[in-house]
Amino acid sequence: MDYMHMVEKYGGDILASDGMQSEKQFMQHGSVSTYEHSLSVAVMCLRLSHHFHIHVNVRSLVRGALLHDYYLYDWHTPHSGHDLHAVMHAKYALKNASRDFTLNEVERDMIAHHMFPLNPMPPRYRESVILCVADKLCALSETVTRSGHNGNNSDA
Ligand SMILES: [Fe+2]
Ligand SMILES: [Fe+2]
Repeated sequence: MDYMHMVEKYGGDILASDGMQSEKQFMQHGSVSTYEHSLSVAVMCLRLSHHFHIHVNVRSLVRGALLHDYYLYDWHTPHSGHDLHAVMHAKYALKNASRDFTLNEVERDMIAHHMFPLNPMPPRYRESVILCVADKLCALSETVTRSGHNGNNSDA
């Protein structure tokens, strides 16, 4: 299964957008940019849904995953007013993504609730649950490897 091909097929417009391209300059953790992290999370979502035979809207799964950290700032910058990044960034990501793209309800739910259980409102769709898991797996892998092929670290 060529997951990268599927990501490009369903999320090509997102990947090419100015907003998403700007994520290349924002580091998520270590040497992994938010752009790379979002790509790995989208691929991980597809892997999980395939491996566990979960019926999903593949297009929404890809698009929600690509946009889940679309908050568009560098949260490492001191005094940038982003002290509450961990709890607030899903809200910013949803606001920006809704401005730049047409999202359906599943995609909105995925972005809004990807930080569950830190943000206590639980996800409503299976695509959102897959994203929660995929995001944490990628963050863990990125933390452990510090570089990984798409590795990233803790603040999913
Ligand atoms: Fe993330
Ligand atoms: Fe996140």
